[in-house]
Amino acid sequence: MKALDQVREVMRRDRVFNFMAQGQHPVIKGKVDVSKDIILYLESVSVSFDGFKAINDLDLYINDGELRCIIGPNGAGKTTMMDIITGKTRPDEGSVYFGQTMDLTKMSEYEIASAGIGRKFQKPTIFPEHTVFENLELAMEADKRVWITLFARLTPAQNDRIHEVLQTIMLEQHAELKARHLSHGQKQWLEIGMLLMQNPRVLLVDEPIAGMTHQETEKTAELLTGLAGEHSVVVVEHDMEFVRSIAKTVTVLHEGHVLAEGSMDEVQNNPKVIEVYLGE
Ligand SMILES: Nc1ncnc2c1ncn2[C@@H]1O[C@H](COP(=O)(O)OP(=O)(O)OP(=O)(O)O)[C@@H](O)[C@H]1O
Ligand SMILES: [Mg+2]
Repeated sequence: MKALDQVREVMRRDRVFNFMAQGQHPVIKGKVDVSKDIILYLESVSVSFDGFKAINDLDLYINDGELRCIIGPNGAGKTTMMDIITGKTRPDEGSVYFGQTMDLTKMSEYEIASAGIGRKFQKPTIFPEHTVFENLELAMEADKRVWITLFARLTPAQNDRIHEVLQTIMLEQHAELKARHLSHGQKQWLEIGMLLMQNPRVLLVDEPIAGMTHQETEKTAELLTGLAGEHSVVVVEHDMEFVRSIAKTVTVLHEGHVLAEGSMDEVQNNPKVIEVYLGE
């Protein structure tokens, strides 16, 4: 791809993802203080929309490197919770911290993303006319993309990183395929790969398996469990079988509040949880 085309693509991507637009105060990554083993704190968080409390006195703690599943009926506030973490929605009350020191309520969406919190949206925002490889290349962190734009080539380390991510997202065989030819599930994986190119500490994934085949669902389970450890992964999902297959700790949200938390067996046998789901 010619350098000029690449610059155009990068500009286009900045418009698609506002977190990729240049901010005033880029946050230095790797500074997150997880000395207490907790990477995300939401404490006494509330937010109302036109008087309706979508999030109501929510306390949520995510451990560094864990894979947490969040379940709950429609309208429980799961997506709003992610909007709050990523700075899209500001809480009316409460505190939201990334590690011990980073107050997310005082940071822009761009700053939060640069600090290492990546979010996967349901509709993949990939470039269909570019190859899988190029999509990952374009998703590389902004400071590294400057090099590519200037010299129209990747450094060996960048090339290695792309191949590592290709392997992680199970698309090594399709590196040269235009993204529009991928299956629905593969497109979702590519978008996860694009997030990984930003080296996030935390990955937020809202309903990852919607519309996937059974086989794609199983592979997505492997992908997400494989990412935990190195990353902290927060997954919102309705499919209980899927949640059971990946979850260690499950948090049940109901009316913007934590209704129950524990292993899948614990929450599924919790009378309050059963009542909420039966009443749906
Ligand atoms: N920007 C907004 N303006 C007004 N109301 C909103 C807004 N965002 C969310 N809500 C409301 O807040 C409540 C929680 O919505 P949210 O999307 O967080 O639920 P959810 O748990 O993600 O549900 P689902 O499982 O259906 O995705 C809903 O009643 C929703 O209508
Ligand atoms: Mg939702």
